[in-house]
Amino acid sequence: MGQFPKTRLRRLRRTEGIRRLVRESRLAPEQLVYPIFVAPGRNARQPIRSMPGISRVSVDLLGEEARIAEKLGLGGLLLFGVPDDKDATGSSGRSPDGLIPRAIESIKSAAPGVLVITDVCLCDYTDHGHCGVLRNGEVDNDATLPLLVEQALSHALAGADVVAPSDMMDGRVAAIRQGLDEAGFPQTAILSYAAKYASAFYGPFREAAQNAPKQGDRKGYQMDPANAREALREVALDLDEGADMVMVKPAIAYLDVVRQVRDRFDVPVLAYNVSGEYSMIQAAAAQGFIDGRRAMWETLTSIRRAGADAIVTYFALEAAKALAGS
Ligand code: PBG
Repeated sequence: MGQFPKTRLRRLRRTEGIRRLVRESRLAPEQLVYPIFVAPGRNARQPIRSMPGISRVSVDLLGEEARIAEKLGLGGLLLFGVPDDKDATGSSGRSPDGLIPRAIESIKSAAPGVLVITDVCLCDYTDHGHCGVLRNGEVDNDATLPLLVEQALSHALAGADVVAPSDMMDGRVAAIRQGLDEAGFPQTAILSYAAKYASAFYGPFREAAQNAPKQGDRKGYQMDPANAREALREVALDLDEGADMVMVKPAIAYLDVVRQVRDRFDVPVLAYNVSGEYSMIQAAAAQGFIDGRRAMWETLTSIRRAGADAIVTYFALEAAKALAGS
């Protein structure tokens, strides 16, 4: 590649003009998916203490959010329900007139072009906070599957474009694919949270969604942070079962996994820049320890550089607004 002084790599770093020309990883609004926490009630916007800038929003206000997403050209919205009514099997998550079906209708009627992705999992709807039903204190994989299918169907029926199972039960992608096909929704896509780790970085989300397990933890179903080869098995299985897209979650502490999944599988790969990753930057920036805006760009860029096609991130609005202004 040449030698100093003939070769000077600094030539291509001198000005923003030249840096922009040779930049390897780029960000665009359509690569950003914005998570929304849907709350009961009317005209409600409850700020989440642990996630500065993010609120739980009631269904009647979602049209506004959808129009903003449309105007900014975001890749999509990812919906989470935060209901009042929780029980042992998470039945409020399967109701055809539950929070998420109503949220989908509200978004689609305000901005039909906005892509709607829904999180499919029991933990937001169970009183014990686990992602499946319990039997003798343990999450029962196979008994959970039909409940996930029902939940996914209620979303598809309301017009969800993509359902995204995040529960980490074995076999759920196959069950959901079969359920959707049999019910007449062969076009509803599945984004599987294929490699989802048992992570401390979900901390702020658990306050946002009020879904922390009352007892125990999620290590019996979410992955061990030490394992990368196992992530590739998870992805292979989910693709075999019919997943259209796969996700790695969290993003920042798992960029090596994003890269390996990217290199190994020719399917769309998403990464979830989770609540803790967001809140750490916000908290440090609020104290003046780091430049929050620059840390956001660096974070999102690193996820793209690792090979993610799209990023689920609480920074989506801020980043897309900045991109529109630049
Ligand atoms: C629930 C779910 C979680 C997240 C997305 N879906 C939390 C968990 O598994 O405890 C975390 C998202 C975030 O931290 O931003 N299945």
